[in-house]
Amino acid sequence: MTSSPPVGDPDEVAPAVAALDTIVSLSKRRGFVFPSSEIYGGINAVWDYGPLGVELKNNVKRAWWRAMIQERDDIVGLDAGILMHPQVWVTSGHVGSFTDPLVECETDHRRFRLDELPGAENLTATELRDPGIVERLGLRCPVDGGPLSAPRRFNLMFRTFMGPVEEDAAVVYLRPETAQGSYVNFKNVQQSSRKKLPFGIAQIGKSFRNEISPGNFVFRMREFEQMEMQYFVRPDEAATVFEAWLGRRRAWYERYGVTPARLRLREHAPDELAHYAKKAVDVEYRFPFGWNELEGIHNRGDFDLSRHAEASGENLEYFDPATEEHFIPWIVETAGGPDRAAFTFLIDAYREEEVRGETRVSLALHPDLAPYKVAVLPLLKKRPEIVDLCHRIKADLQRHTMAVYDDTAAIGKLYRRQDEVGTPWCVTVDVESLEDGAVTVRDRDTMAQERVPVEGVVRLILDRLDAARAG
Ligand code: GAP
Repeated sequence: MTSSPPVGDPDEVAPAVAALDTIVSLSKRRGFVFPSSEIYGGINAVWDYGPLGVELKNNVKRAWWRAMIQERDDIVGLDAGILMHPQVWVTSGHVGSFTDPLVECETDHRRFRLDELPGAENLTATELRDPGIVERLGLRCPVDGGPLSAPRRFNLMFRTFMGPVEEDAAVVYLRPETAQGSYVNFKNVQQSSRKKLPFGIAQIGKSFRNEISPGNFVFRMREFEQMEMQYFVRPDEAATVFEAWLGRRRAWYERYGVTPARLRLREHAPDELAHYAKKAVDVEYRFPFGWNELEGIHNRGDFDLSRHAEASGENLEYFDPATEEHFIPWIVETAGGPDRAAFTFLIDAYREEEVRGETRVSLALHPDLAPYKVAVLPLLKKRPEIVDLCHRIKADLQRHTMAVYDDTAAIGKLYRRQDEVGTPWCVTVDVESLEDGAVTVRDRDTMAQERVPVEGVVRLILDRLDAARAG
């Protein structure tokens, strides 16, 4: 399955949203994502999650944790430090090899990633390392047309200083991946949890990369989060386990609503493989700017544990009591991130449709991912009994899930606002509710309305959430 070329062509599968700006402006307007430090003009490639964005991203992280840890017996969690012993990054190969090819314009001194220059997008990894490539292809600065330098390797790690003295001995790195925390803790975790092979260590946390050309909103940032899982296996099982994780990880995105046709698996060419990988396949998504990596699945062989064992002097072998063998486990890694995943869920959920001559925008987010699960709305905010009942229902719901009350517009507008942020259900209290003790529950996707007794609202919403989660 993985060795075949990717099926699908950027032009064959339309993106869910034609222009990225649609999502960027919705995100800003409704409080999903803001440019960092905006009042000072912003800082490139750092974004802040607003009130709705933090809910969405937390829900993505919870959904991942549920699938990777809660629902499995063979994977445990870890939360390692962002700062690690600097030798970790020498041993891991990041100090030597975690680089991108950089070229600089000789007139305006702008810097570009070589593989993103017009005319260089399809170069192989070998061609990207060729010092004569810029001249041979006649590449020029895309901004002012000036001559470009020969490519040089630019290390993406951020460096900082630990302790009060800024001297070389105190240089530490902000981690560029969470994976190394799982490798250096392999023995601690295995011995304390008494896990037998195969088993995994999963982490969610911040990583930092000084990307040369960040962009496309939260797709490529300099500060971001990763959701990575390292699965330790017997060497002879690695290939089969690798294939199994491809299917599982793709299915996870589909389970949470991503359109299957906008997902594909793409295997890395041999000269494209990262320094640690024996084999790598990306789960790619059809973003508005083309097919791009959503998550990487890597067969890392024994590279990591062998190197750390050798450099630290610690024995990182595993003893298999069944076969009485000692060996270094191989690692199959699933490496994704909540920023890219949340971004994908947001794009793929975006809908525009004509309803009674008006454009209705909605986010068909999976209920588990939606920032608010339910909004409680009064038909008449001037009737205190209606408002009181709304608050009582909302307080009952809030004990279980994210619920919100809004009375700042007429009901039609209130529905549209909730549709636009993906709230799956609205509960409306009207004059009749005061007499018959029932309220209207409206569904975001079908706009169907049903009458439900007040006492049944919490159960109904929780049952629907459970059903969505199970489905
Ligand atoms: N440990 C392997 C590793 O880090 P990677 O493909 O470089 O692999 C894994 O990164 C995932 O981390 C990516 O698929 C993406 O979801 C996320 N990621 C990496 N760089 C990112 C960036 N600059 N901005 C946002 N997310 C990023």
